[in-house]
Amino acid sequence: MAANKILITGGAGFIGSHLIRLFVNNYPDYHIYNLDKLTYAGNLENLKDIEGADNYTFIKGDIVDEQFVKGLFAEHAFDSVIHLAAESHVDRSIKNPTEFLFTNIVGTVNLLNAAKEVWAADFSDKVFYHVSTDEVYGSLDDGGYFLETTAYDPQSPYSASKASSDHFVRAYSNTYKLPIKISNCSNNYGPNQFPEKLLPLMINNIKQNKPLPIYGKGENIRDWLYVVDHAKAIDAIFHHGKLGETYNIGGFNEWKNIDIVHLLCKVMDRKLGREEGTSAQSITYVQDRAGHDMRYAIDAKKIMNELGWEPSLQFEEGLEKTVDWYLENEDWLENVTSGNYQKYYNEQYS
Ligand code: NAD
Ligand code: TYD
Repeated sequence: MAANKILITGGAGFIGSHLIRLFVNNYPDYHIYNLDKLTYAGNLENLKDIEGADNYTFIKGDIVDEQFVKGLFAEHAFDSVIHLAAESHVDRSIKNPTEFLFTNIVGTVNLLNAAKEVWAADFSDKVFYHVSTDEVYGSLDDGGYFLETTAYDPQSPYSASKASSDHFVRAYSNTYKLPIKISNCSNNYGPNQFPEKLLPLMINNIKQNKPLPIYGKGENIRDWLYVVDHAKAIDAIFHHGKLGETYNIGGFNEWKNIDIVHLLCKVMDRKLGREEGTSAQSITYVQDRAGHDMRYAIDAKKIMNELGWEPSLQFEEGLEKTVDWYLENEDWLENVTSGNYQKYYNEQYS
């Protein structure tokens, strides 16, 4: 594939930063452009180790700004796009759905339009790869898995906005023959995740002896994948996945929220030299999330069978690595939890 100039959007965020690192280090012949607005969730600290690389350029900008996006594509004529930029937190989407509509839907359509225009002369060797979530499929009961063919049934403003963006990407493939790929991944965990999401929020609170807020009864189930394994799956799909296809990505690793928090408490007690059982005493059941999806579970057999991808880490190993990273990077955690984070936290958990 002659994909020399690759635009990765949202590269300063959690998953984007791991993907940028992987591409910059593994593909010295590519030039990686990282387009990011640097919202509260975007942090250039995440990329300190590669920011000076010859094959890397950071561009600050907003995908909602149509003229800016058009100008950027006209200037650089990217060969491929891997699109991750998004508002990504369900609780924030419940508080402010409109922001999700703009970034996740309008932003995606702006990128599609710009790619369509700049590539119009020749779509060969071009790829628009859209990174999405398993939440578009809705909520499962006890049985069954999300397949690539499962009908969309989004239940939160976040998942509705991601589902809409997926539909636009497929519509551009059908209508304009834009060369696209889509992947839908389960919950990620690992270093650099903003501490509004379950695991880093709990790690931060355990460290500070704060209450550990479990929504509802804690029986909701999520399917967890280490973030670097998601980045590797994107790499495999980008290079070897079929055009026009969707790939589900997941670790066959389901946990009830209450069980995963108990396991985390155990690991943290050991790392912090506390007696086992100490941290779990702070578990506090709080009001449930509105419209809280019960269970997500991905069937990842397609990517495993077709592309030979599989998770490289067992969950317990990934969790240890994650906890170690947060304990070794106190400055990172302190920087992102000052200011606006405190305001959000007080509103969400008061
Ligand atoms: P994140 O919130 O950590 O990062 C999002 C990044 O997008 C940030 O760097 C932010 O600054 C940037 N951004 C936001 N609005 C922007 C705009 N208008 N213009 C330019 N940049 C903007 O998110 P994440 O967890 O890394 O998720 C990345 C992608 O992967 C998202 O599309 C998300 O839907 C998808 N996804 C996430 C998970 C997960 O568990 N986190 C699972 C499956 C899929
Ligand atoms: P989250 O990390 O927000 O991811 P998502 O909602 O996209 O799956 O939440 C993961 C699960 O943890 C979800 O079922 C909600 C629950 N949760 C809590 O119980 N307490 C919390 O403080 C948070 C942030 C999440």
